[in-house]
Amino acid sequence: MAEPLKPRPAVEKMAPYSPPTAGRAGKLRLDFNENTVGCSPAVVRFLVEKLTQEQLTIYPEYEATRAALARYFGQSELRFAITNGTDEAIQVLVNTYVDDGDEVLIFHPSYAMYRFYSEVAGAAVRELAYRESDLSFPLEEVTGAVSERTRAILISNPNNPTGTAIGLDAVETVLKAAPRAAVLIDEAYFEFFGVTALDLIDAYPNLFVSRTFSKAFGMAAMRVGCLFSQEANVQYMRKAQSPYSVNMLAALAVRAAVEDAAYVNDYVANALAARELIYEGFRRRGIRFYTSQANFVLFHAGEKSSAVRDGLRERGVLVRDRSYEIPGTVRVTAGTPEQAARFFEALDEVWK
Ligand SMILES: Cc1ncc(COP(=O)(O)O)c(C=O)c1O
Repeated sequence: MAEPLKPRPAVEKMAPYSPPTAGRAGKLRLDFNENTVGCSPAVVRFLVEKLTQEQLTIYPEYEATRAALARYFGQSELRFAITNGTDEAIQVLVNTYVDDGDEVLIFHPSYAMYRFYSEVAGAAVRELAYRESDLSFPLEEVTGAVSERTRAILISNPNNPTGTAIGLDAVETVLKAAPRAAVLIDEAYFEFFGVTALDLIDAYPNLFVSRTFSKAFGMAAMRVGCLFSQEANVQYMRKAQSPYSVNMLAALAVRAAVEDAAYVNDYVANALAARELIYEGFRRRGIRFYTSQANFVLFHAGEKSSAVRDGLRERGVLVRDRSYEIPGTVRVTAGTPEQAARFFEALDEVWK
């Protein structure tokens, strides 16, 4: 057999990342922070009843989607790019601003794709840890860590998997400390948190904010997100983005989704009520956990974290073991109060 073709060194060095996404259908999915009920039925109805042959035949046209999203977010159409999920937002930002060897500042633990796209681009990844005691954001360390070489700072707010968040004053501190770096505030869990950096965009040319339809909106399979920044930045990012990266089904689906905001608000209210029940359930059982600003809770299962995950899976309940990042921790998604009750029923059987 001939030798395989050698990839770029940046790719050769990367550790493979393959989240456990197989075999999840039909189970209670409390493992990926998705909407645990499903997207608005209006979205499915729209696709089933209104989709035309022509819409699938021609290359996607985004004008109507762009207008609907601009209305929904209260932002000018020139202020955002529609992306194939947050993932493409991260990729486009990195490809636009980070060169081979440039430094990207990320945090640990956080969303895996920040490291992924930075490494693919050949960036030098520098990582700062969330504070061990309460998993709060290491704000003071950021100001010390920023240098001339820092070209991007990627922050999940609220952060996955810790659930902790920073306020806008801290966001501004980072923006001021790194005026030459593209600062991404990834607001994938905004709907559960309610604080957004979108209104700071006018004041900071180095601010980028991403949103997604994968979480509260229940459309992870569709792969749609938005990346906001000042108009000049968005123009550059659109140059670095494929012109058809969001497929037409997704572009149509988000139009239907933003018209049914009530559905999402209702789901968020349920998830927040479930989160309270999860706190209460952990307290009652003496299980240590971190309070969260998102639709998931990280808790300590100690040495039995993988046994808890496996035992729950056998009972049809999926959670995510995060021990590889913070020893002994497991993350559970807050869906509905009924689902939280089902989670504890199964947990009581496996927690020995
Ligand atoms: C912080 C954060 N950003 C983004 C995403 C996923 O984004 P998308 O599905 O929009 O690519 C996740 C999903 O787990 C996440 O935790």
